Amino acid sequence: MSNKAEIPSKKEKILFTPGPLTTSYTVKQVMLRDLGSRDYEFINIVADIRQRLLEIGGVAGDGYEAIIMQGSGTYCLESVVSSTIPPGGNLLVIINGAYGRRIAQIAKVHNIEVVPLSYPENQVPDLAEIHLTLSTNKNITSVAVVHCETTTGMINPIKEIGEIVKQFEVDYFVDAMSSFGAIPINLAECGIDYLVTSANKCIEGVPGFGIILAKRDSLEKTEGYAQTFSLDLLAQLRRLENDGQFRFTPPTHTLIAFHQALLELQAEGGVEGRATRYRSNYETLIAGMRTLGFQEYLKPEDQGYIITSFPYPDHGNFDFEEFYQRLNEKDFVIYPGKVSQADCFRIGSIGRIYPSDMKALLLAIQETLESMEIDLSENTLQQKPGNQESLLKI
Ligand SMILES: Cc1ncc(COP(=O)(O)O)c(C=O)c1O
Repeated sequence: MSNKAEIPSKKEKILFTPGPLTTSYTVKQVMLRDLGSRDYEFINIVADIRQRLLEIGGVAGDGYEAIIMQGSGTYCLESVVSSTIPPGGNLLVIINGAYGRRIAQIAKVHNIEVVPLSYPENQVPDLAEIHLTLSTNKNITSVAVVHCETTTGMINPIKEIGEIVKQFEVDYFVDAMSSFGAIPINLAECGIDYLVTSANKCIEGVPGFGIILAKRDSLEKTEGYAQTFSLDLLAQLRRLENDGQFRFTPPTHTLIAFHQALLELQAEGGVEGRATRYRSNYETLIAGMRTLGFQEYLKPEDQGYIITSFPYPDHGNFDFEEFYQRLNEKDFVIYPGKVSQADCFRIGSIGRIYPSDMKALLLAIQETLESMEIDLSENTLQQKPGNQESLLKI
């Protein structure tokens, strides 16, 4: 056996994942230069990024601030949880997937009392129960929910939840990691105090930092709450406001790429334009997968166009690792499942991919099933007649 490490393939793979995602060539290309973190050009880029993010959230000039935090999206979740909850405050976390559970885990690490409202992963949270919990527990100072629960692809009703939360004058915190930039969200209309997303999701940048959109009044009241030094949200805002710089080394190349990604989002028609492309990706995917004999884990009315979970087909030859590997060898990268109560895999519709990429993936899945001697045509026949089209027609 050779001791040599395998040389990684330089071929372009297409990512059908929840992120990092396939990015445009031009987003990657702009990283081929070095800018110092104190360079006026870099500082201007950061200021423009912050302004554009507020515009995407519908709150430019409306009492909100965009704060960039080094690290991945989870660092930003931790920054909000550990910086904005007053001593002795309780956090109500609405949980119907792994990312809701993660917010609760973060709070526990910081010794913040968590009031969990947990639902099965295929169930939308119960609004009446949220109302009742807030009416009966006066220690709750913040409510957290995930917008697109990337575990399944479910879209939680953040506006309806926000209307309830605001009746109780507590903070409202939304993890919009995998939806911001692709699903229109107006923070003020939803009553959101803190929203978190990351560079490498629907704005189609590369990984390296996350973003917190914060209501200024709410954040200013948190002086002295921060439980960590590096993730102190108010301190991060103050430094960005004082001299446009970061407290610690920023991911300069990632920020330059993100700025380009924002220009490309605008050129595509903003959030609406991006939503149109992602929705066609999703519709192409669903039609093709049903034709191949797969079914979605969620009910169509709960399913968003960001990412879809498919239960493993009931066939003796199906082995996810092998299925994944064979698709990977064809340069199509899908994603393992995260649903705790069912064996699923996931396919994302986001990133710089188009319906033509979806069609190519579907043909690769068809070939892969054939090579694994898996025939799911019985499932297809059980579905509605409209779903029995040929893949070529999609
Ligand atoms: C809804 C949601 N929250 C949190 C995260 C964690 O983000 P990161 O892996 O960037 O820390 C993800 C990642 O996919 C996500 O989809």
